[in-house]
Amino acid sequence: MTNKANAPAATSAGGLRGVAAATSSISDVNGEKGELIYQGYNIHDLAKHSTFEEVIFLLWNKRLPTSSALSELEQSLRSSYQLPREIIDLMKQFPREADPIDVLRTAVSALEFYDSTSRDLTREASIRTAIKLTAQFGTMVAAGDRIRKGLEPVTPDLSLNIAANFLYMLRGEAPSERDARMFDVCLILHADHELNASTFTARVVAGTLADMYACVTAAIGALSGPLHGGANTNVMKTLLEIGAVEKTESFIKKALAEKRKIMGFGHAVYKTEDPRATHLRQFSKETGEAGGDSKWYEISRKVEEVMMSEKGLYPNVDFFSASTYYMMGIPLDLYTPIFAVSRISGWTGHILEQYADNKLIRPRAEYIGARDLAYVPIDQRKA
Ligand code: COA
Repeated sequence: MTNKANAPAATSAGGLRGVAAATSSISDVNGEKGELIYQGYNIHDLAKHSTFEEVIFLLWNKRLPTSSALSELEQSLRSSYQLPREIIDLMKQFPREADPIDVLRTAVSALEFYDSTSRDLTREASIRTAIKLTAQFGTMVAAGDRIRKGLEPVTPDLSLNIAANFLYMLRGEAPSERDARMFDVCLILHADHELNASTFTARVVAGTLADMYACVTAAIGALSGPLHGGANTNVMKTLLEIGAVEKTESFIKKALAEKRKIMGFGHAVYKTEDPRATHLRQFSKETGEAGGDSKWYEISRKVEEVMMSEKGLYPNVDFFSASTYYMMGIPLDLYTPIFAVSRISGWTGHILEQYADNKLIRPRAEYIGARDLAYVPIDQRKA
């Protein structure tokens, strides 16, 4: 018999679609209009005029910085690029074939051991932790890639911003101005996206007043799934599987007939073009042109065309970032960790917001199981 007084309110159709699970001023997605704003600023304006560091300030402080506030944040970030030696030593123990997103998750979790103020959740201390995490994500991802290739990690260059420094540490040589700016904009575009699965995870953990490392470690776990941040790597695998523009249409039609999901398409909120895809499509085009080979861009465009005519689905943020990163020579399995190098800014913003006005996040489940069953001794149970 249902205990009506104790029963939770009716749930949504599933997956909490359409349920507002928190209030937040950090970002807003308008799925009908295809609009994304960070603290009131349109993503298109930020992509055109801003830098990742400025966006970090914006996400954490609800306002754009003055030039002195920005240089103070840039200095704090740069002076935190370097990892504790113990983390590099630990990463050297990981299996070479470990997935880089799992390497990042484990390294971030261990990083907490070397932060003596991690349990201080005041805003001042939490900002310091957020700076360390945001500064060190790129260092961890680049170091992990070098270590698995049998190379020594590259010492961060404190004269470079997060985007340029990451490419420098990954490749061992300074990036071109074009690559550095393009990557900076990629970081802006991935920085926050309201209550996506990993951000919600971070907030749920923050709601227990666990430290920021715990929140972020859990968020990386959520990001790693193929339906979330793991999609971009799978997009590139699909493009490589297709291999040629003329094979695209039949490949996609066959995949759809077999009920395969085409990664990089569809979105839980956008019902029109994802505004981030607009910029990434252009980057894919420009990167192809700059390298003298537009094959991956052209296959991507054809996939887009067929997905629209067959399913009416638009590409999401992961679709054109895949071919862009591929043409930049970035290994496939780093695409999701790179997502995290950017999203750490949004996760930490949401954690700061959660700490500032905390309430334990503890929803109810709508129970659909049996009730009032009689306990049967084990020797009398039927298989
Ligand atoms: N390829 C093929 N069909 C897709 C699809 C895709 N990428 N995305 C959605 N669909 C279809 C579903 O099969 C479903 O069809 P049906 O009604 O005939 O069963 C319909 O569109 C609705 O899909 P659903 O998964 O319920 O939508 P959602 O809003 O719950 O899911 C995603 C959103 C992002 C999980 C989903 O679109 C997806 O899995 N995309 C691929 C993974 C991806 O790119 N993730 C990154 C997101 S930024």
